[in-house]
Amino acid sequence: MSAEMMKRRLNAIDIRGRKGGQPVVSLTSYHAHTAAIIDRFVDFILVGDSLGMVMHGFESTLPVTLEMMILQGQAVMRGSRHALVVVDLPFASYEESPAAAFRSAARVMKETGCGAVKLEGGRHMAETIRFLVDRGIPVMGHVGLTPQSFNTLGGFKVQGRDTDSAAAVTADAVAVAESGAFAIVIEGVVEPLAREITKIVTVPTIGIGASADCDGQILVLEDMLGLSPRVPKFVRRFGSLAGHIEEAVGAYADEVRKRTFPAGDNVYKPK
Ligand code: KIV
Repeated sequence: MSAEMMKRRLNAIDIRGRKGGQPVVSLTSYHAHTAAIIDRFVDFILVGDSLGMVMHGFESTLPVTLEMMILQGQAVMRGSRHALVVVDLPFASYEESPAAAFRSAARVMKETGCGAVKLEGGRHMAETIRFLVDRGIPVMGHVGLTPQSFNTLGGFKVQGRDTDSAAAVTADAVAVAESGAFAIVIEGVVEPLAREITKIVTVPTIGIGASADCDGQILVLEDMLGLSPRVPKFVRRFGSLAGHIEEAVGAYADEVRKRTFPAGDNVYKPK
């Protein structure tokens, strides 16, 4: 990354310009502290509605509200300085109409200061994406396995297994790109579908459980750190934070129980 790029926060146009170039690195974050840690390594941070499952323990992302997204979006903006911050529009905050989507997206942009929003859906969301982009809101698309639709998909199922399904995901990605999205997350599709879509669409594809040949990749931070109790099969763990936390908390609990904590330098001594 150029020194110039490191001086300012990246924006949607920068990410759009990475099509076919240097791979786009991305992770989710929901907090100021994790955002501050990952900020210098990633091109964009997604405040994903996965926070409903990861932070709050919900079974799906459906209970997540606009207020929850705004609160965590504000935290991530406070913690980061360099990466583009993209905030997910949660279920039922945008699907009803382009105008409803604009109201939700405008609130997110005004109240968090983030640089873009992400919404799920393909051809049926194309009109909405165009409506938002024409009114100054950069939109990231999300096709393939769209978790907010798990009830109509019959579960969190890999998409594109047969020719009809593969054609549908491809048509979705093309429609989203043509409607003005600056990048598209492709989630949970079989090889070589995401590779083929990456060749066809003119904007960067960001894969998650999709293909190494996408223009970039994204993972849920807690999943790749080994902190989430349940992770999708495709996730490679780059850390084992749950084990480290257990070890540290176990050591602390031991010391408290043996009355050896606080000890030594940890005690404020009278002067
Ligand atoms: O909500 C989220 O974290 C996401 C990523 C999995 C792409 O949408």
